[in-house]
Amino acid sequence: MANIVLVGAQWGDEGKGKIIDVLTENSDVIVRSQGGNNAGHTVFVGKTKYVLHLIPSGILRGGKLCIIGNGVVIDPVGLLKEIEGLVSMNIPVNGQLFISQSAHVVMPWHKQLDILKETRKADGKIGTTKNGIGPTYSEKADRTGIRMVDFVEPNRFKALLKERLEEHNKNFLANGMEALDFDTIYATYSEIAAKIKPFVKDTVILLHEAWKQGKSILFEGAQGTFLDIDHGTYPFVTSSNTTAGGACTGSGFPPNHIDKVMGVAKAYSTRVGGGPMPTENSEISDLLHGLGREFGATTGRARRCGWHDAVITRTAVMINGIDELALTNLDGLDTVETVKLCVAYECNGIRHEYVPADITVLEHCKPVYREFPGWKTPTTSARSWDDLPENARVYLKALQEECRTRLSILSVGPARDETFTV
Ligand code: GDP
Ligand code: IMO
Ligand code: MG
Repeated sequence: MANIVLVGAQWGDEGKGKIIDVLTENSDVIVRSQGGNNAGHTVFVGKTKYVLHLIPSGILRGGKLCIIGNGVVIDPVGLLKEIEGLVSMNIPVNGQLFISQSAHVVMPWHKQLDILKETRKADGKIGTTKNGIGPTYSEKADRTGIRMVDFVEPNRFKALLKERLEEHNKNFLANGMEALDFDTIYATYSEIAAKIKPFVKDTVILLHEAWKQGKSILFEGAQGTFLDIDHGTYPFVTSSNTTAGGACTGSGFPPNHIDKVMGVAKAYSTRVGGGPMPTENSEISDLLHGLGREFGATTGRARRCGWHDAVITRTAVMINGIDELALTNLDGLDTVETVKLCVAYECNGIRHEYVPADITVLEHCKPVYREFPGWKTPTTSARSWDDLPENARVYLKALQEECRTRLSILSVGPARDETFTV
């Protein structure tokens, strides 16, 4: 029975949802501790595709305790839609899903501000999901946010809404935008609040009790290491700590009860939105998009694609303390003639083994590649290391060494069973 933190080792969309779903078989409690519905975690159960944005992917297994922790920012409209969507697909949530009282609520002005800020930028657009994530975390840090505990108490919500709207409307009107209407928002949101209220709990105590009973707890990271507000390619990042430490601050679970940190990475790299990506490559982007792969689960945008960047993964191993790596989408490289692996960066005559924190340096880094002959054989039916073509094993061994970690899970297709341990 282990308590595991699972984090994305790249720029998000590494296949965390799928790996969480596989690991959930042996877990009792699944916790989201940061991010919001900017996340899109895809899980296939049989032929049915589910995309979860706020609710832990563990909900799909049935009988698991699923917690949305204090570090998550929750859009009530999105949450209710997700709950109702699951219920309509006969996935029960009552008695299984619990939401932290302290989680902050995404309100309409947060989404409006997110859109406004992005549209105003001529260059350097972050390419946010426009879900109001940044503005909600900003207000949380400014101590002017609305938390679940306030949201589900009608009088408290009413007073806070009035106060916050007055301030935001002044700003919107000054910028030639329409003011938001108190009555409309109050009517819609208080109706949603009443529906969400039964799920709202002190999840710190709930989690602690589960731990005391010896339950195994799985923390489902959202986004990825290089979208982390502190360790990512700032300012092209999200607004939360996506790295392993975020699992503790975002849930109230103590660090000394964590047994293992697992990273998830793709056999290649992807990124959605702006910001540096040293191994970005049009050949591999065209190949994957041509196969109908690598379109965003939340926004539908085409993801930027490139070769696996071991500098990125190696740095993620260092920051998160990744004990084991789950590598997904190996099958995406099945038709490639020569597979490249970035093992270092070169910038103005200096070799970098770790990602430089200075984005102006990173933007000028050129990848140093090791090349491997492709295996040019489908890998999706492989169910063990020995089933893999020899060239794939050579590539994976090199990747493991270059990333300075241990490969523990390989994923060769989107389905649950297209996975094996190494
Ligand atoms: P997450 O945000 O990290 O959960 O990842 P996403 O769900 O946004 O994106 C990962 C995509 O890769 C989804 O479409 C998954 O169904 C798919 N996927 C995950 N692992 C594999 C794999 O090994 N092979 C293939 N073909 N698809 C995979
Ligand atoms: P999952 O959990 C990939 C990216 C956005 C944008 C930046 C900031 O599915 O891996 P935000 O809306 O958070 O302010 O956008 O972060 N981004 C993601 N990219 N996967 C995600 O989540 C992401 N969540 C945010 O594209 O570049
Ligand atoms: Mg995703």
